This record gives sequence, structure tokens and C-alpha cells, in this order.
Amino acid sequence: MLRKTFKLLNDLRRLPTLLENVANAANAASASQAPASFTPSVNDPNRAPNPFYRVTVSHLSAFMGLSERAKAALDDMSRDEGFSGNADPSILSLIDALISGNAKTRVLQLGTLVGFSTVFVAGALQRVSNVTGSSVRLDTVDCDAPKQARAARYVNAAGFGDIVRFHDGFSTDQKIIDRLRDETYDVIFIDSSHNYSQTLIEIDIYWPKVRPGGYMLFHDAGSVAANYDPQKEGGVRKALDEWLAKRPTDLHSHMLLEPPYWANPCGAFWAVKAAPTAVS
Ligand SMILES: C[S@@+](CC[C@H](N)C(=O)[O-])C[C@H]1O[C@@H](n2cnc3c(N)ncnc32)[C@H](O)[C@@H]1O
Repeated sequence: MLRKTFKLLNDLRRLPTLLENVANAANAASASQAPASFTPSVNDPNRAPNPFYRVTVSHLSAFMGLSERAKAALDDMSRDEGFSGNADPSILSLIDALISGNAKTRVLQLGTLVGFSTVFVAGALQRVSNVTGSSVRLDTVDCDAPKQARAARYVNAAGFGDIVRFHDGFSTDQKIIDRLRDETYDVIFIDSSHNYSQTLIEIDIYWPKVRPGGYMLFHDAGSVAANYDPQKEGGVRKALDEWLAKRPTDLHSHMLLEPPYWANPCGAFWAVKAAPTAVS
């Protein structure tokens, strides 16, 4: 009797370990059944989302047909400590309209951060692909490799892993220039250093890569955003003013978007590359 009681107590003592083993086995089984692209949350779900996120996502989701899966990935991203400084609804809805309304298929972004604009741009490209059957791609560049690695996880979780190629490095690095040497783009979105001299170099390198009839867009091109220049040299706006003063011959048209004509105080800029006129 005493021996039986002792065995029972011993079994009970092992029960938590047994239960843990069963739970681990169940988790391993469900993980192996999950779709290959599924990425579990990387953030504490109890961590409050960045306050800007609620405004941005509710605004954007109303316009853009992002899947529930993509919205869940954004929700997770909003709890990322690096989620700050992302693009705003005004510029993202413009880019979305330019891509989807004109069936554009090739996009380059400078400045990935943790992937917020990346998910929206990829979503617009995905819609184009769904409708036209075209192959679509977004190349995105960032010098902060750890943040960009997190962006890749969110983009996979959103279901856009096949569309996006991530490039680690500065937009002005020779290795990035070499990697993108043979590429041209329908849309280039610049949201990177915000520094005047870097932006001038980026325009020099990347404007020639815009296809005829394509667009180059800049975030933070308003006069207020000149303060975002870490070197206080005048920011994106000064670089654009200088570029425009040179009157590039292949610039068809441009628009500076800032208050009171533009909802976001940081402003934006949109340049259209001239296309050869049709000869009858
Ligand atoms: C404002 S954040 C980009 C936000 C992103 N577009 C979004 O909406 O989620 C700027 C990013 O540009 C990166 N960056 C700064 N200078 C860069 C450069 N010269 N080349 C590439 N990335 C750069 C920073 O590491 C940062 O992640």
C-alpha cells in the first residue's frame, strides 16, 4: 500500500513534465502543418501599438483592399520598437493609386525601416498582378540590416514574400548600385536619409532608372520636413529645389504636395518622367 502511494506521488510529480512534453509535441506538429510563409508574431501582443498606427491603418484600410492576413502583420508590426517614422496615409494612398491605376509592375523603394510602406506598396502590386497576370516586384533598400530583417518577417507574414526583394546597404553604396545596375522602374519612392546632400546623390543615381512615363516620389519634401535633415543642411526640399533649378530635360512635370493642399504636414513630391510622344 505504502509502495503504491509512493508510486502515485512520484507519477503526480512528473505530471507537469509529461503535460509539457505533450504540449511541445502538439506545437511542433501544428508548426510543421503551418503554411511555409506563415510567420508567428515577433512582438508581445500586450505591447501597445504605436499611436500613429491606429490613425494610419484605419485610414488606409478604408481605401486599400489589404487582406486580413496583411492587416494582422501590420498589427504585429505596430508593436515593433522600430515602428516610428513610417510613411503617412497621404503619400501611401497616392503611391497605391499610381501603381494600381496605371498597372505599374516595377517599384524601387529607398528606406524600408520595419516594412510599413513596403506592405502597402506590395499590396498595390499584388492587386495589379491579380488583375493583369503580370509579374510584379518591389526592390527595397535600407542601411539598417536588423530592422530590414524584421521587415522581411512582416512582409512574409503579410503574404507578399514573393514580391519583395530586400537589399542591405546605403542607397549610395557601390554594391547596391551594382546590384540594381540592369533594373529600371515604373515608380521610385525615396524615404531614406532626409539629408540634403545624400538626396542630391540619390536623385543623380536613381532618376535615370525611372522608366519613361514613370514616377519618382519623395516623402518629407515639405518645408517643415527640412528639419528632419540630420545634418541640418536643408533636407529633401533643398535638394529638390536645386534639382528643379537645373531644369532636367526629361522631367515632364512635378508637383510639390504640402499643406494646405495636402493633409500630411511633412509634405511630399511627385516627379513624372517624360515619355517619347507618339508619332502618327
Ligand atoms: C523614414 S524611415 C523609412 C520608413 C518606411 N518607408 C516606412 O514607411 O515604413 C527611413 C529609413 O531609411 C534608412 N536610411 C537612411 N539613410 C539611408 C540610405 N542612404 N540608404 C538606405 N537607407 C537609408 C533608415 O535606416 C530608415 O530605416
